[in-house]
Amino acid sequence: MSDKILYGYSAIFDKPDDIIKAAKTVAEHGYKKYDVNTPYPIHGMNNAMKLKPSKLGYISLIVGLSGALAAILTMWWMSAVDYPIVYGGKPFFSFPAYIPVVFEVTVLSASIATVLAMLFIFFKFPNNSHPLQGTEYLKKVSSDKYGIIILADDEKYNENEVKNLFQSLNASELEPIYWDNDEINHKHKIFEPKFILFLVVVAILNSGAVYFVYNKLLFMVPFNWMMEQERQNVQQKSLIFSDGFGMRTPVEGTIARGHLPYQFYGKPDLAGEKLINPIPVSKSSLKLGQEKYDTYCSPCHDYHGTGQSRLNGQFPNPPSLHSEKLRSWSDGRIFAVITEGQNVMPSYSTQLTEDERWAVINYIRVLQRAMNAKESDIK
Ligand code: HEC
Repeated sequence: MSDKILYGYSAIFDKPDDIIKAAKTVAEHGYKKYDVNTPYPIHGMNNAMKLKPSKLGYISLIVGLSGALAAILTMWWMSAVDYPIVYGGKPFFSFPAYIPVVFEVTVLSASIATVLAMLFIFFKFPNNSHPLQGTEYLKKVSSDKYGIIILADDEKYNENEVKNLFQSLNASELEPIYWDNDEINHKHKIFEPKFILFLVVVAILNSGAVYFVYNKLLFMVPFNWMMEQERQNVQQKSLIFSDGFGMRTPVEGTIARGHLPYQFYGKPDLAGEKLINPIPVSKSSLKLGQEKYDTYCSPCHDYHGTGQSRLNGQFPNPPSLHSEKLRSWSDGRIFAVITEGQNVMPSYSTQLTEDERWAVINYIRVLQRAMNAKESDIK
């Protein structure tokens, strides 16, 4: 026995009144580390033992308040900072609306923290061994006896004094209680592979069950009335309009936003006089112009504007873009040709936006200058 380490000295009493008296006396003698074990809760034991209120409440309070604060901050950030939307003219940060959520989050975080703190901090879960386990003492106090134990690491502990005290209180049995080897080499088991594996298995089973229940058992087609509503599809027949067409042309005189209609149909010379190229020559506009010219114009006009078409006579060759006439034309006059077409050349107004047409014209000017370089251009 001598090699064993003492955990505490225990005493058994036969009546509840005796255990209350014993607890009071032990507390009055100034012992701090002692415990009482009874088969059922005994009223008045808290006072007799001079127990302080549990510290668990502080954890609940702190975590609960943090939860409330986090909820308030989240809602403030979402509805007043990140994505402010006016609801019925109320301020963005309108606290009364937040109260239900703040209340719920407070209760939720406080209760979860309480349970976890109780389990993992106070009960040291998953450690489940204790020196009292397996002792005669615990068996007795679990059925019809009342026990008290003073721990050996109490400052005032002295085996003889403790024994005498218990005897003076008429204890029916006295018994020293020793640590088991297991409990001496006590380590917190929270990071033990076994325990972690257990958590992982629980997590997998739980998420599997949730997945199955929500995605298979209880699955409902999501709300899709917006997608499935009655509507007029492109090219579909319409029962509303007398001509049966679903697609309508805009009302006469409609002008699209940001777009002025071309005003010089049939009057290319007037266009040449009135229209001014709004796109300044720049690297990026020339690059765009080249790209569009190569794509839309070069099959007939050739990459350099000579008129040597690549169409092998399937379409009449156009005149050169380097003629005196073309070089003296204003940008607006060329714009008119691209927009309206000219004789057999079709209009390119659907393929090229106005800005792209002007960019193509800028590029044609570059081609013209390259083909008619002056002495001064070389210097
Ligand atoms: C399908 C072949 C074809 C394509 C593609 C084509 N053109 Fe033409 N283009 C012609 C023909 C043919 C003529 C001569 C029309 C005529 O007889 O007046 C012409 C005439 C012109 C003229 C007037 C020339 C003149 O001397 O009167 C200009 C300017 C012109 N095209 C610019 C362009 C531009 C810019 C593009 C690209 C957006 C383009 N063309 C695309 C065939 C084409």
